[in-house]
Amino acid sequence: MNIVILAAGQGKRMNSALPKVLHPLASKPMLGHVIDTIKRLDPNAKPCIVLGHGQAAVQDYLDKNHPNVSVAIQAEQKGTGHAVMQALPHLMDDASTLILYGDVPLIQVNTLKDLLLLAQDETLAVLTQELPNPTGYGRILRSLEGEVTGIIEEKDASPEDKQIREINTGILACPTKDLRQWLSQIQPNNAQGEYYLTDIVGLAAQQGLPIRTMMPEFHFEVEGVNSRAQLAALERTWQSHLATQLLNQGITLLDPQRLDIRGNFQASPDVVIDVGCIFEGDIEIASNVHIGPYCVIKDSKIGANTQIKAFSHIEGAIIGEHAVIGPYARLRPGAVIDEAAHIGNFVEVKNSHIGVGSKANHLSYIGDATVGSRVNIGAGTITCNYDGVNKHQTIIEDDAFIGSDTQLVAPVRVGKGATIGAGTTLTKDAPENKLTISRAKQLSVEWKRPQKNKK
Ligand code: UD1
Ligand code: CA
Repeated sequence: MNIVILAAGQGKRMNSALPKVLHPLASKPMLGHVIDTIKRLDPNAKPCIVLGHGQAAVQDYLDKNHPNVSVAIQAEQKGTGHAVMQALPHLMDDASTLILYGDVPLIQVNTLKDLLLLAQDETLAVLTQELPNPTGYGRILRSLEGEVTGIIEEKDASPEDKQIREINTGILACPTKDLRQWLSQIQPNNAQGEYYLTDIVGLAAQQGLPIRTMMPEFHFEVEGVNSRAQLAALERTWQSHLATQLLNQGITLLDPQRLDIRGNFQASPDVVIDVGCIFEGDIEIASNVHIGPYCVIKDSKIGANTQIKAFSHIEGAIIGEHAVIGPYARLRPGAVIDEAAHIGNFVEVKNSHIGVGSKANHLSYIGDATVGSRVNIGAGTITCNYDGVNKHQTIIEDDAFIGSDTQLVAPVRVGKGATIGAGTTLTKDAPENKLTISRAKQLSVEWKRPQKNKK
């Protein structure tokens, strides 16, 4: 199968230095959505993307994120038909061609599968849509028998044509040999002086080729983006669609309108998500996890029955079952929190393993550390992991107790069952089962407070 994605248009109404197709929806460029959908349709597909405006920036994005595509350049935008002509050298004659748009990001795999089935046996299949207000779109012309006879653009339409509510979404599939032959015949003799891709439909009809149409399941699949207002509206539509899917899968959302999913989100039934949460990247959440309000969670895995309390920020973490995180916890990449561990308010954990049942409940920094099981880390504990040049490891063995306001100057090790007295600055390893303390002896002296000078 050949796939062409048109993405040469300027997107003037975005008022942006960023090319339109790179504007993100659910934090992924619109063009990325289309390419990812194609990859799900056929992992081996190598779409041809027609670039023009903002070509360098789009090419750069493709090089970094989708190297397995080809690119055709449309130096001057002379219409959708002209754009497809630029892609012709990349198309194989023995397969059909599917035409998509970089600014119509939410087309779904199932719709494309159905459209390709419809285009089998050498026919032209057009995705259409019934709209209450079809203004601005190309209209589908049909004979009295209901056969498609052509498409008329708004600017070329008669008042009667404008009454037609079935519109052209622009998405179509057809035999490639025919596409070449039709494109060689179209002329820019219309109101906009452009080569219209839509004119191939009239040519196919004249040649007696059967033309089939279908409509998508969801309206958002064929919505194009021309302005930031349209992009923002489509974002809300998409988020609400994702929320509905989650509800259907058995996830409780305290408010489906106040949830944002920006990536691959997988959750098991009976997960509860309070309002205002944002999920980014690859997320996996096991059953009965409870996520409090206003959490930001990215690229993380959360085990069953764990509680994430309000305002926690979690990135690149793996959290076991029955753990309690937050409120106001920060887990950074490489944080591995084992079963039943507690990470409390204003505790930051980076690149560290926290063992089963261990607790760091208040105001701590734990970086580059390996913490055993049942360890208690007191308030204000800091692993001094960075000497200004290199990072060093802290090891805290099982059942250790770290008193409040301790600095662990890495590299350093705290033995099994060791107790570290509050306020200790630990610069040497602490032996097992002993109390280690580094603190100036307490003393009391006679003392008079300074008095305010008389003027
Ligand atoms: C097109 C269709 C119209 C349909 C509508 C759906 C034609 C002639 N008309 O109209 O029937 O109802 O889409 O939204 O096809 N592009 C290029 N190069 C060009 C011109 C356009 O790459 O020279 C790209 C644009 O970037 C855009 C897409 O093609 O992604 C559609 O172009 P646009 O100008 O928006 O088409 P419409 O006039 O809206
Ligand atoms: Ca236009």
